[in-house]
Amino acid sequence: MKIVITGGAGFIGSHLALRYLQQGDQVLILDNMSTGKRVVKGAEFAQIDILDQVSLDRAMKAYQPDIVCHLAATLGVKRVIEQPLMTWETNVIGTLNVMNSAREIGVKKILNVSTSSIYGDNDRNPKLESFAPNSDEVYSISKTSAEAYCRSLFEELGLPVVTVRPFNVYGPFQDATPYGFVICIFIRNLLEGKPLTIFGDGTQIRDFMFVDDCVNGMMKVVNSGVDGEAYNLSGQRPIQILDLAHKLQEMIPPTKCREIDFAPKRPKDIYRRWGSSKKMEGLGWSPKISLDSGLVKTIEYFKQQSDRRPG
Ligand SMILES: NC(=O)c1ccc[n+]([C@@H]2O[C@H](COP(=O)([O-])OP(=O)(O)OC[C@H]3O[C@@H](n4cnc5c(N)ncnc54)[C@H](O)[C@@H]3O)[C@@H](O)[C@H]2O)c1
Repeated sequence: MKIVITGGAGFIGSHLALRYLQQGDQVLILDNMSTGKRVVKGAEFAQIDILDQVSLDRAMKAYQPDIVCHLAATLGVKRVIEQPLMTWETNVIGTLNVMNSAREIGVKKILNVSTSSIYGDNDRNPKLESFAPNSDEVYSISKTSAEAYCRSLFEELGLPVVTVRPFNVYGPFQDATPYGFVICIFIRNLLEGKPLTIFGDGTQIRDFMFVDDCVNGMMKVVNSGVDGEAYNLSGQRPIQILDLAHKLQEMIPPTKCREIDFAPKRPKDIYRRWGSSKKMEGLGWSPKISLDSGLVKTIEYFKQQSDRRPG
């Protein structure tokens, strides 16, 4: 099969590309390299911005994919607050462009990668797919709108698009800069002997999933998901951020620094969020990798990275 992966040079997209290649499929990565850094060996690559409809159409027409996995997005708490317009453009207009291109060439299946952030801050956990979106934060608004457009294109035009809503994904190759995500930032800081910063009191709860589980879930939904539907991809391992910090401090000894700085809670931070995997279990998927073993693999990767850095 021929697979196009938008955002395929990014963290999750590059793992997805590798898995498709490993199972013998052909992969074309479309990415503007704004945050993406990893074009896996064996994949074809075109540096294209999904806001450039003409180039996108040209690349899709030339490649004639069977499947389009759409992951290109603007994300990250810091980045989306700094760039709300770009967040809207990439995540909503860009998604419409990708759907349009895919429709023009009649692909068999489109995977729209959304997010669990759309559930917003309500106290009901675990989140079910039937819960109404409930967020007024820049990133979630854009992802909610993109999902709504995809559903509408399915209902009105029969576009074969299915959506996944991953919870917090982590693993090797994730961004560990201040624009990145909590597990990788904590690991990098511990390896560098720097204090960990927690926004709020650390009792907030997140649902972490190792990237391999996420990728398996995405491929399962491409194969067996029902068009027009949305599926949670939840790690089923909710943990308080303070407990996560302590766990990582234990796992990365001896560090020069065991401090935790408590910074004020960020205004739109969600307090507690974890997901139900029931709907995915119906497709025969559940996460397999424990938090501890996923963390070991991730720490190993960042250790190798820091060993390679000069000085
Ligand atoms: N990382 C998580 O925890 C998580 C959780 C839920 C959902 N998601 C979703 O998964 C997808 C992948 O996220 P990720 O963590 O791999 O992030 P990432 O930033 O590593 O990957 C995004 C990729 O999209 C590319 N991109 C951005 N704007 C583009 C544009 N205009 N045109 C072409 N390419 C563009 C970037 O260069 C990058 O390679 C996103 O849709 C994100 O919303 C991620």
